Amino acid sequence: MKKKNAWLYNIAFVVIVGGIVIFLWNAPPETTARVPKDEIHQRFFPMKKKEAEKHCEKCHNPEGDVPLPEGHPPKYRCLFCHKR
Ligand code: HEC
Ligand code: HEC
Repeated sequence: MKKKNAWLYNIAFVVIVGGIVIFLWNAPPETTARVPKDEIHQRFFPMKKKEAEKHCEKCHNPEGDVPLPEGHPPKYRCLFCHKR
């Protein structure tokens, strides 16, 4: 009786792990735009994230040069989503 249960647990474990692997395998690729590596953004690369983020909204604001697109997610901590 005990041995049978152990087998069931093993099989359940394999099935669950397999499911997780397949799920991660099929996850969509990261699509968020990266921070471009150009003259404008170059100077933010060596900075600490929190330091750099203070500057983003000087240009990326509704009246600025490059407003955030409509429906943009919550905008604090830009660099968590937009990788450098
Ligand atoms: C001096 C003004 C300025 C500052 C400051 C600035 N940006 Fe930009 N950003 C631009 C301009 C202009 C563009 C569009 C041209 C280009 O690709 O460089 C742009 C483009 C981008 C893009 C790509 C948009 C696309 O269409 O792919 C991302 C992402 C971005 N900026 C994020 C950031 C982040 C994060 C910060 C803060 C670390 C930041 N920017 C600071 C001016 C600025
Ligand atoms: C919660 C995650 C998240 C945060 C935080 C965030 N963004 Fe975004 N951003 C996105 C997504 C998702 C998109 C739309 C998909 C895309 O175009 O890459 C986007 C789009 C943009 C675009 C336009 C990109 C394009 O290709 O047209 C710019 C510019 C941008 N974000 C700048 C910023 C700035 C500046 C900040 C900080 C003030 C910021 N983002 C914070 C997730 C985020």
